[in-house]
This record gives sequence, C-alpha cells and structure tokens, in this order.
Amino acid sequence: MPRISTSSVSTRTLLKLAVAPTKLRIQQAHYTTGNKNDSNEAEAPNLSSRKLTQEELEFIKPMIRVDQAGEIGANFIYMGQIAVLGKDKNLRPILQEMWDQEKVHLARFDELIAQHRVRPTLLRPLWEIAGFAVGAGTALMGKEAAMACTEAVETVIGDHYNDQLRKLVQLNDQNKDLVDLSKTVQQFRDDELEHHDIAVEMDAQKAPFHDVLSSVIKQGCKTAIWVAERV
Ligand SMILES: [Fe+2]
Ligand SMILES: [Fe+2]
Repeated sequence: MPRISTSSVSTRTLLKLAVAPTKLRIQQAHYTTGNKNDSNEAEAPNLSSRKLTQEELEFIKPMIRVDQAGEIGANFIYMGQIAVLGKDKNLRPILQEMWDQEKVHLARFDELIAQHRVRPTLLRPLWEIAGFAVGAGTALMGKEAAMACTEAVETVIGDHYNDQLRKLVQLNDQNKDLVDLSKTVQQFRDDELEHHDIAVEMDAQKAPFHDVLSSVIKQGCKTAIWVAERV
C-alpha cells in the first residue's frame, strides 16, 4: 500500500463516483472485485461460464489490446524515471512500488491477451521507447516534473479505465469472463488513481511549466490510446 495520505476528497474518489454507481454497487454485492478494500466476498454469484459470442469478443478485444499497450508504456515510464532519479533514497521506493504495480497490471493483460486470443498491439517497440523517453525526459527536468508526468498520465488512464468500466457495466452480464474483465479494470483504475494522488502529494503541481507539460502529456496519452485500440 502506498503510504501517502491525501488531505481532501481525492480525484480518485471523485472519478470512482463518476462510474454508474448504482449498477456498480449491484454488481459488487454479488462478487468480490479483487480489490483489497472490498469486503463483499461472502456472496458468490451465479456466474455463467458460457463462451463469449463473436460480438462480445469484438467488443472486448480492442479494450484488452489498448490496455496491454498502456501498461507497457507505463512500465517504461517508471523505468525511465528510475533510470534518472533512482539514486534519490526517498523517491526510489515510491517509484519502485508504483512500477511493481504496473508489472502486475501488464502480467494480467498478457494473460487476457492469451486467454481471448487478442492480437497484441503492433507498435510495442514504439510504446516502449515513447514510455521510457517521457519518463526519463521529465525526470531530467526534476523530481516535480517527473511527478507531473505521473499525474497527467494517470489522470488520462484513470478516465480511460473508467470509460471501459462504464461500458462493461452497461452490458450487465453475469458472464464470468466479462465479470473478470470488469474486476480487473476496476482494480487497476483504483491503482492508477492512487499513483495520481501520490504524484500530487509529491509536488507534481510545483513542476516548472506544469500546465503546459500536463496538457502536452495528456494529449499524447489520448492519441496513444486512440492508436493502440486500432493498431
Ligand atoms: Fe497500470
Ligand atoms: Fe499507474
């Protein structure tokens, strides 16, 4: 668990509330989300193990493809940040902890890619290079700029996972594969927003040219999401 507390109602909380709360709560009453904070583990659902239809597969494949690509990029961002700032004894464990969570995220999407026979992104080398360049580049501008990078990236990724969760919840289907995917997206959304909050606590908003840096990185992330869903 990251150890930094937030002092007010966090962006994480606000973004969580943005996702179809009623339907989500109904689903949560029936199965555990896998989230460490979730205590609704007692009631097991009657999940259907039927195979996904072709339509459903076409619906989830771009989601899994873009999410795997995003987690590749995230891993390389943290790798780049640690390459530059890893000697900072206070910062290193925080960056490492976030990176370790990104490794778990990527491993899960690797599993889902195999399970649902999703064609992975064709641009993996690009996401690796771009991720490392953004991570290391902002870290070279200083600790605050590195945190501003994390703040911006995790804002977009939190929104992105929330959009996916909203679409999955709207299916309102108790198919095991779809429920598993929802649980994954929900848990990772929470992790990404936790990273966002940590970055803010670590002075992201004191970065030089914060607003420009933030909007450039956010636009880059949105473009990458659009491309990775397709290619
Ligand atoms: Fe992630
Ligand atoms: Fe993250």
